[in-house]
Amino acid sequence: MEKVLILDFGGQYQQLIARRVRECAVYCEVKPCTAPIAEIRAFDPIGIIFTGGPGSAYAEDAPRCDPAVFELGVPILGICYGCQLMAWQLGGSVAPAESAAAREYGKTQTFYDSSCSLFKGLPAEGVSWMSHGDSVSSLPGGFVAAAHSAVCPNAAVADPTRGFYGVQFHPEVNHTEHGTQMIRNFLYEVCHASGGWTMGDYKAIAVRSLREKIGSGRVLLALSGGVDSAVCAALLSEAVGSQLTCVFVDHGLMRLHEGDEVEQAFAGRALNFIRVNAETRFLLKLAGESDPEHKRHIIGEEFIRVFEDEAKKIGAVDYLAQGTIYPDVIESGTGKAAVIKSHHNVGGLPDCVDFKEIIEPLRMLFKDEVRQLGRELGLPEKIVSRQPFPGPGLAIRIIGDITKEKADTLRLADHIFREELENSGVKADQYFAVLTNTRSVGVMGDGRTYDYTLALRAVTTDDFMTADWARIPFDVLERVSVRIVNEVSGINRVVYDITSKPPSTVEWE
Ligand code: XMP
Repeated sequence: MEKVLILDFGGQYQQLIARRVRECAVYCEVKPCTAPIAEIRAFDPIGIIFTGGPGSAYAEDAPRCDPAVFELGVPILGICYGCQLMAWQLGGSVAPAESAAAREYGKTQTFYDSSCSLFKGLPAEGVSWMSHGDSVSSLPGGFVAAAHSAVCPNAAVADPTRGFYGVQFHPEVNHTEHGTQMIRNFLYEVCHASGGWTMGDYKAIAVRSLREKIGSGRVLLALSGGVDSAVCAALLSEAVGSQLTCVFVDHGLMRLHEGDEVEQAFAGRALNFIRVNAETRFLLKLAGESDPEHKRHIIGEEFIRVFEDEAKKIGAVDYLAQGTIYPDVIESGTGKAAVIKSHHNVGGLPDCVDFKEIIEPLRMLFKDEVRQLGRELGLPEKIVSRQPFPGPGLAIRIIGDITKEKADTLRLADHIFREELENSGVKADQYFAVLTNTRSVGVMGDGRTYDYTLALRAVTTDDFMTADWARIPFDVLERVSVRIVNEVSGINRVVYDITSKPPSTVEWE
């Protein structure tokens, strides 16, 4: 099978590069830049991509790869830092910007040499997304400049004889016009990929490696009923069959009727499905807590404790599996990226876990890829296209402290909003209600009320890494508002959230 290797120099976008390569129907893996040359040779890539990174190629402690990588006879595409490092390691020079004006951050008009294989068939000019202070100041032997911007004469560099290419900008991000096409050109025009790799192949590889890892061991899967854990269940079931037990923990913070719906959807399948009703246990732990990160950590820990208890009942469980996906990992913070919020299944995990290992076969996939994999595994569309529901559930949609009464109020209001939106035919990728902890004065039946404000949130998005607020028609919003204040006691005001992500996030906590 043809494979592309992505060497990671500490960039923020390495998985986005991987995703673009997969979109171009070529298999790839990400390895650290320190991967030994023997391992790279054994991997036998048809092409190598160097990611960006926060370092400076000329710094003493700069992350570098083994110079033998350049002797493999394999084409290389260096992106941002990866481009600078390649130039530096091959004898060119890299310099910091002399003034603030010479740095480039954000959208930059860029001029391409259309005779260069990377830019074949593309317009000679377009917007690229730059994020750099350093740049290649003199080219190594054999290289020519292949693109420039107003301040960067070497926005792309190329040594076509050796198949070495470098771009100062980030072709993997959406803001770079034709960026995916440039990656496609590298794969097909330079590396001569034949393509044809599909999610079906991903499934086959994942099943094989799960079988190798788990052997005859027993696995307990944390099944929430959401897309990610459902796909994970189907994948593990295909890999290890009856060695898998799926535990659904109803923490009492699910949406209206959701616990029963999950049970209905999964109990009949060959998944050794177990439902644990743990509302009292979770509400007790959460009592009086209003800090969002604390709530997430309490829930993350309590989930694990429930799974440990279930594992003891089953006996001899080796692995805990979770449907963690890539955006969960990134937002929970990595070595280099900041913590935005601790997703309950990543940053919210306790340090000490009573399992041999945690298995997360979807950890490198984006949401839409997970849905694609779910279809490959034959899951019904109703499950595969479900909107996401966060593991901590309504706990992070009740601002301030959590009580059963507030959860019941929110459940009802949320149900009305979702029902009305679905009936209206308005398209949104995720929609829900949030119970704020703001109370305000209202008047109902000639009497004064002092009740909670409910916020409605509906977003459109591809990958949940960025999102826009859905343009819901006023008459739909009006219907929702009238029904909620009439049918749900404790709420006398309804507002609609009109912020995108960034600067907000999808959930309020
Ligand atoms: P944010 O709020 O970070 O959410 O913009 C992005 C997507 O992730 C979901 N989300 C979670 N999912 N565990 C999950 O399984 C969590 O802790 C969690 N927090 C947020 C959120 O619903 C949205 O779809």
